[in-house]
Amino acid sequence: MQHPSLPLNPGLARLTDYPFDRLRSLLDGVSPPDNMDPLTLSIGEPKHSPPDTITDTLNANKDLWGRYPPIDGTPELRAAIAGWMQRRFNLPDDAIDADAQILPVIGTREALFMAALLAVADDDATVLFPNPMYHVYAGAAALAGAEAVALEATAANGFLPDLEAIDEQILSRCALMYLCTPSNPEGAVASKSYISRAIDLARTHRFVLAMDECYSEIYDREPPAGAAEVCSEDGGNFDNVLIFQSLSKRSSAPGLRSGFVAGDASLIARFRLFRNYGAATMPLPIMAASTALWSDDAHVAENRALYQAKFDLAERLLGTRFGFKRPAGGFFLWLDVSEYGGGEVVAKRLWAEAALRVLPGAFLSRVAEDGTSPGDDFIRLALVHSPDVTEDALNRVLKVLR
Ligand SMILES: Cc1ncc(COP(=O)(O)O)c(C=O)c1O
Repeated sequence: MQHPSLPLNPGLARLTDYPFDRLRSLLDGVSPPDNMDPLTLSIGEPKHSPPDTITDTLNANKDLWGRYPPIDGTPELRAAIAGWMQRRFNLPDDAIDADAQILPVIGTREALFMAALLAVADDDATVLFPNPMYHVYAGAAALAGAEAVALEATAANGFLPDLEAIDEQILSRCALMYLCTPSNPEGAVASKSYISRAIDLARTHRFVLAMDECYSEIYDREPPAGAAEVCSEDGGNFDNVLIFQSLSKRSSAPGLRSGFVAGDASLIARFRLFRNYGAATMPLPIMAASTALWSDDAHVAENRALYQAKFDLAERLLGTRFGFKRPAGGFFLWLDVSEYGGGEVVAKRLWAEAALRVLPGAFLSRVAEDGTSPGDDFIRLALVHSPDVTEDALNRVLKVLR
């Protein structure tokens, strides 16, 4: 999108419209049936009730709205985050230096975006990310002025990029690689050895590895591995690694805008400086609420059980249709609808015939030179509603796609 008379950032011209704007345009002029309640499954916005702790803590700390918050958060918040990392990833007590290795952020979207501005040194640099992907990675690469390199993550490679297949020439120019585990949209989980290999590549080729782990608490059977445990088992070496974690999915609190970045202390110090100039800081009452949430795992277990119940439901209703396989993590269904005309055709039909808003996989994917993308055949459904609403939604899908 270019401005008619001002040059502006050339990366703007390389951005596609935001996926949800594209969906609005796709469905513009298509009316859902009058007799059906519209259901939105296109956005990964958790609808489970957020814990009361949030309102209680915000109220108890309302005097703090009058203070500017510190960029690096309160010591209590950093300690609560470090404690959660130790519990969640079985780290030894001294694995994380809460003061040097943790930086609270107002949700991870902005921090993931800024990681590219931090890492990219010149316009010869590459920024690598999986394809399909959380769309912010591609936008960050473009606006940071780097060459965006999309790494195919398809069923053939377990929906994770094949790290051994990346061109040496691309790696040698790499400033930043984003990886997402559990992945959005497919729910694929990277093993410790996969993460370890990615870290090796980052150190060998001197780039920043951004591990987007915001779905790490939403899993089916086994807690997904994280980069923190891999680094901890590697003698506590976090070099080149930044880990992004969020309360949006863990605590069903996307409106709180609370997350953190952890990892390489010298990168964190520079990110802190960078953010101090250009980023919003988390308000102190929100830090207090976040401290309470990171300190509590019970609400997260309840939250996870609700998602597991919805995957039981999906398994029962869908069986193996649309290539459904129970994802190891995350809360999305990534359904192959190629036999019904592909993601965009099906998204239109589901809206027109069943008042269901779903996201075509193409809107989360980068198009190759041949005009195709690995998301073309897919739709993404976010299982964010209650089990009852989810059951209704899946039955509507089955009625339309017989
Ligand atoms: C893969 C992934 N990363 C990061 C985010 C950003 O989450 P937040 O900014 O709410 O922390 C999302 C949100 O949907 C996501 O799906």
